[in-house]
Amino acid sequence: MAVSIKSEREIALMRDAGKILAEVHARLGEYIQPGISTLDIDTFGEKLIRGYHCVPNFLHYNGYPASICVSVNEEVVHGIPHSGHILKEGDIVSLDAGLIYKGYHSDAARTYPVGKISKEAQRLIKVTKQSFFQGIKMARAGNHLNDICKTIHGYVNYHGYSVVRDLVGHGIGTKLHEDPEIPNFTMRRRGVKLRPGMTLAIEPMVNMGDWKVDRLEDDWTVVTRDGSLSAHYENTILITGDEPEILTLLK
Ligand code: MF3
Ligand code: CO
Repeated sequence: MAVSIKSEREIALMRDAGKILAEVHARLGEYIQPGISTLDIDTFGEKLIRGYHCVPNFLHYNGYPASICVSVNEEVVHGIPHSGHILKEGDIVSLDAGLIYKGYHSDAARTYPVGKISKEAQRLIKVTKQSFFQGIKMARAGNHLNDICKTIHGYVNYHGYSVVRDLVGHGIGTKLHEDPEIPNFTMRRRGVKLRPGMTLAIEPMVNMGDWKVDRLEDDWTVVTRDGSLSAHYENTILITGDEPEILTLLK
């Protein structure tokens, strides 16, 4: 259950893994447009990742069949890319991607508009992203994990949305999923004490309606039970002696 503390050497590699993933996401963001399929996104994303001599860490993870999780509209996370699933104007699409660089993992997610989208959908995407930035204001050595969790939860609820409870963020490093689990909702305990050298993937998943979700028969795709839209925003961060460092954003 111990949370690993990365050495300076490991942190340098995590920075590289994060920077490459930030570049992959930037390219994927530019690629989004009406008419492309969700499989086109996966194919392009895998090519980008391998172009950096990295390995897509989601591919075959617990049997997941693709490199990029592509989740459209009411799909929350873990959507499976498919050639028959064509993006259309007005959709929102969440891209979750990760990679391994010299043995170290990075993990990040963004939700994009497809063409022109409704004001409501724009607000959902914005609040989801902002909930991450509110949460990581608490990601400082000496604070406890729940300080992050409850801040995200409070921010999302304040804006009238709900956080998904079935899926959580996580520690990350030589494995995609390390301790601790990082819920996006208030825990009953304060959780581990944050220390410099911890690397964490913080990933609010926010529903416009109710928090409840279902899993489709493909055994992967998580969808909102009430059919409302859902957005996702994730970065891999480093706890330092000062402000957290966001490893998967371009500086
Ligand atoms: N970002 C997700 C996570 O942290 C994606 C991994 S799920 C996978 O859990 F199975 F598709 F890889
Ligand atoms: Co993750």
